Amino acid sequence: MPNYETILVEKRDAVAVLTINRPDKLNALNSKVHLEAVAALDELKSDSAVRVLIITGAGEKSFVAGADISEFAGQTPVSQRAGFLERTLFNSLENFPKPVIAMVNGFCLGGGCELALACDIRLASEKARFGQPEINLGIIPGGGGTQRLTRLVGEGKSMEMILTGDLIDAATAFNLGLVNHVYAPNELEAKTMEMANKIAEKSPIALQMAKEAVKLAARSNLDEGLRREIDLFAICFSTEDKEEGVTAFLEKRKPVFQGK
Ligand code: COA
Repeated sequence: MPNYETILVEKRDAVAVLTINRPDKLNALNSKVHLEAVAALDELKSDSAVRVLIITGAGEKSFVAGADISEFAGQTPVSQRAGFLERTLFNSLENFPKPVIAMVNGFCLGGGCELALACDIRLASEKARFGQPEINLGIIPGGGGTQRLTRLVGEGKSMEMILTGDLIDAATAFNLGLVNHVYAPNELEAKTMEMANKIAEKSPIALQMAKEAVKLAARSNLDEGLRREIDLFAICFSTEDKEEGVTAFLEKRKPVFQGK
């Protein structure tokens, strides 16, 4: 891994941890973060030793407090549109062929909330605060918030968050289904690693097929989704991992998946 300026990438056995590292700016996403994170994702994608990715923010206070507002100055509609269309970080995460867990340790606002929404699972500290406050700047979410938040929590709650710009606490985010679990701040990392390690033991091919199949629920109609689920299910039957999984069950032992 190259030395990045705005992110840290650490590999803990089969789990990679990508940390947005601008704590003095509450980890706001500037263009450099986008470029570096996309480059890191490209590398992690092809590293077969990495089976699960965790995304988090540096410091005690913030996951990511949004797009870097200082970069909005002087932007024209055309440059802003081109910049956002080029910023493939959110889509890269959604299409990343391995499970991605957002470990939300604090402020999770605007582009930060959109970043978490592009991950597969969100685990939060009791201190986390969520919101899409763009409306307070006279703009709207541009990194997928209007679409992914609405699909996750429903139109009414999404509309309320986006139209008021109000922040919600972790317990409310849990009740909305925006986060999967909420933990005490000092437990968040251990609990996240525990889940990541559990997932990392599964067949990486089955994980990839499962992620793709679940994503289809929001992207296709039911007939197409069910049809493609069967294709992805059938692909698993071509793998050594499926042989290992079934054999291990019959032999009453734990499977060891090789990703083949
Ligand atoms: N873009 C750029 N800088 C940001 C930022 C963002 N989205 N969010 C925080 N920062 C910077 C602050 O400007 C400040 O920098 P400075 O020390 O050089 O002045 C530093 O991070 C600390 O933030 P500060 O506002 O002093 O912390 P706080 O605890 O008083 O408030 C927030 C925390 C999250 C409530 C507040 O920073 C905030 O509202 N941020 C913007 C959130 C937002 O609108 N996001 C959507 C953007 S589209």
